[in-house]
Amino acid sequence: MHETTLYRLEYEAPSFLIDSVDLTFELDPKKTLITARYTLTKNPDNPSRDFILDGSDTLTLESFIQNGETLDLKALTFNQEGGILLTDLPDTVTLEIQNSVSPENNHRLQGIFMTDGLFCSDCEPQGFRHITYFPDRPDVMATYRVKVIADKAYPVLLSNGNLLEEGEYDETRHYTIWHDPFPKPTYLFALVAGDLEFIEATHIRPDGSPVKLRIYAHKPFIAQCEFALGALKRAMKWDEERFGLVCDLDHYNIVAVNDFNGGAMENKGLNIFNAKFILADPNTATDEDFKTVEAVIGHEYFHNWTGNRITCRDWLNLSLKEGLTVFREQEFTADLHHRGIKRIEDVALLRTHQFAEDAGPLSHPVRPDECEKVENFYTMTIYEKGAEVIRLYQTILGHDGFNKGLKKYIEEFDGQAVTTDEFLYAMESANETHLTNFDRWYSQSGTPELHASIDFHPESETLRLALRQVLPDSKHQKNRAAQPIPIKYALFSQDGEMLLEEMLVFNENVQCVLFHGIKEKPVISLLRDFSAPVNLHFDYTLKELILILHAETDDFARWEAMQRIYELIIFEHSTTEDKARELFEVFEPLFANVRQSPEFYALLFTLPTVTALLPKMESADPLLLFGQINGITRQLAAHFEDRWLDLYEEFDGDSPAHRAIKNCALSYLAHIETNHPILEAHYMNATNMTDRKAAFTLAIEHDIAVKETLLTHFLETYRNYPTVIDSWFALQVRSPNVSLPVVKKLTEHPQFSYKNPNRARSVIAGYGMNMVAMQRDMPASYAFHVGEIVKVDGINPQTAARLIGPYTRIGNYSNEDQAAILAPLNTLLESDTPLSNNLHEQIKRII
Ligand code: TRP
Ligand code: ZN
Repeated sequence: MHETTLYRLEYEAPSFLIDSVDLTFELDPKKTLITARYTLTKNPDNPSRDFILDGSDTLTLESFIQNGETLDLKALTFNQEGGILLTDLPDTVTLEIQNSVSPENNHRLQGIFMTDGLFCSDCEPQGFRHITYFPDRPDVMATYRVKVIADKAYPVLLSNGNLLEEGEYDETRHYTIWHDPFPKPTYLFALVAGDLEFIEATHIRPDGSPVKLRIYAHKPFIAQCEFALGALKRAMKWDEERFGLVCDLDHYNIVAVNDFNGGAMENKGLNIFNAKFILADPNTATDEDFKTVEAVIGHEYFHNWTGNRITCRDWLNLSLKEGLTVFREQEFTADLHHRGIKRIEDVALLRTHQFAEDAGPLSHPVRPDECEKVENFYTMTIYEKGAEVIRLYQTILGHDGFNKGLKKYIEEFDGQAVTTDEFLYAMESANETHLTNFDRWYSQSGTPELHASIDFHPESETLRLALRQVLPDSKHQKNRAAQPIPIKYALFSQDGEMLLEEMLVFNENVQCVLFHGIKEKPVISLLRDFSAPVNLHFDYTLKELILILHAETDDFARWEAMQRIYELIIFEHSTTEDKARELFEVFEPLFANVRQSPEFYALLFTLPTVTALLPKMESADPLLLFGQINGITRQLAAHFEDRWLDLYEEFDGDSPAHRAIKNCALSYLAHIETNHPILEAHYMNATNMTDRKAAFTLAIEHDIAVKETLLTHFLETYRNYPTVIDSWFALQVRSPNVSLPVVKKLTEHPQFSYKNPNRARSVIAGYGMNMVAMQRDMPASYAFHVGEIVKVDGINPQTAARLIGPYTRIGNYSNEDQAAILAPLNTLLESDTPLSNNLHEQIKRII
């Protein structure tokens, strides 16, 4: 076991630079030959004459020519990872290196691998070292000329940039030559070869010039790519309008593949997508899937400026590109669809997953100071909290201020590899301001606790708002300091009239704010729009929350009031009947307004998930919590049965908004057995995947009589659609009533696979995150789960290491439960089972 820890403060510029690279690939699934030609030139910023060409044990070095001289391979020095150490180099060094790799044996899916008969690459963050010997770090940027040679059985040969030439290589083989004029780091390199079809469209840039857009996929899937192609055009147009950022390429290609570690990859001019995030037609994708496809298409396209043109100096600054690009995607979706609902969805994701990560053993700052395996740092914190930090700039500086800052960032740092300091600098200098303490959002881990209280003084007509922020010590950081927290708020009179709406930036440990001329005690709505990623502690009464629910104009604040109502009622010490009765009164007036925004009301009517609420329990008890939520839901179902039936009938289901409320009503009706025929009919008569999956999920969760029939029907109907079959597995293991034997059987199903990351994740991640079912079958469930992770680890370490999520969320479980849950991980570490560095690092951090 050897680790190479990266330290941010020990960053050193590369001692040599590379202007351009010439690569030749002779593709063969068993043995692909790669020839790399490039010249190292001294970088004056680092006087060292030593240099590392990263490599790995997956490479077979065939020949090494340095300045025209063929070197004896045995005389070369390798580092532990398999990279080549060069010493005492002159100012310029010309290299010609030949090596081979075996794509068909590459199950790690990093470097070049086979997927459904295609050659496909994935290089971020350090996959290029599995292709050839080269400085595999983002601050070495070069232009690439790539020659791809392959058998004609692989008709399409793609790489980054422009196609310079294509032709016959010999009788059986053909070739293409690509040139990418934009200097790029290794992680943006891409190559795809195989029997692909494409669809295409044209985007016209503001100057009238066209960009040719293509999406490539295997023939059976090509018909499902139209929506993604449209989404790409929308993304291009939006970035022009919102930020003045225009596509710099004449050709923009996307390829969809079934085996992929991540969601998608922003390789310059040749994005590669997990098919899960491209394929979308109404028969196979839900309304949620459509939204996700559009968002991921946007995300990868937006990287072209924020990530590719301006990249990261080192991987500790990963959030420079990811946080910013997630934020850009959030704004894209908000502008195109429903801003309030998008905000609610993003905050729910952040709080359920990033807050949990940040409260557990894997907590780390948005810009970490050190890391072992870079691949383990593609986290909720880097992405989602990173996006919140970018949002803070916009909230504090305003929309125009943020746009000015981004413009400055692009103008000043285009073509460079930089850090979050440069981003902060651009925001400050463009706005001629100093953002005091802002850098602490990058350097301090953890979610700030924001305590607020008000008291009203009728004699002086004054309202006093007292604020206090605390960032508790963490394992790695002590004595942490105040961060600037923008707080958007509004005051309402007791009859719901808005008195004022404002924002303050709270940048001290404690602060008092006075409001004068207030005649009666108002209701304050704090942290509207979730204006900062903090935990707000404010003792709202049920009455105040109900007032906010009705009076607020901010969608997030209304939804948040409803969440607090649920939380207050679920956690109060009373019977399920009493809890339900309180909710009857809250629900009653809402029915009248559903038509104003069916999708939003569907969100209001949906009780919080066990996963979201569990961290708020003093001593986590997933089964008890599930029992309570389920019990209350059943009462709401029965009490309002006619209303649910009315909603179910009233909405025809022809739009996503209508389907949202219709399926929400169905989820209540499903609690009453006499309604199960409606459920069955909903499944059978569904004309789209949204309705079908909604009914299917409920049929499994409520174990309805025809469940087995539906399971068979679903599997048969969608057998040719891998992403739909993924959900056939996932929905079963995510059901709260699933038992361990059922899960085990699913892993033995002929359609299950440890090799395909989507399929493996659908079962192993799906079951792991099912805190209720895992608890019910404890400790066997956890022992089984760890065993499954180890099986994946033997094939694909990067994917395995991302399956440990559940073990990071048990901080408030009882000591016995924690010990029982962690026991299999302890046993594993003590055993001689070989583990990847990726998984080993994660387990070590957890226990
Ligand atoms: N850069 C990609 C994105 O955010 C993420 C990515 C691509 C990735 N390939 C990966 C993440 C492999 C983890 C592992 O869009
Ligand atoms: Zn990204």
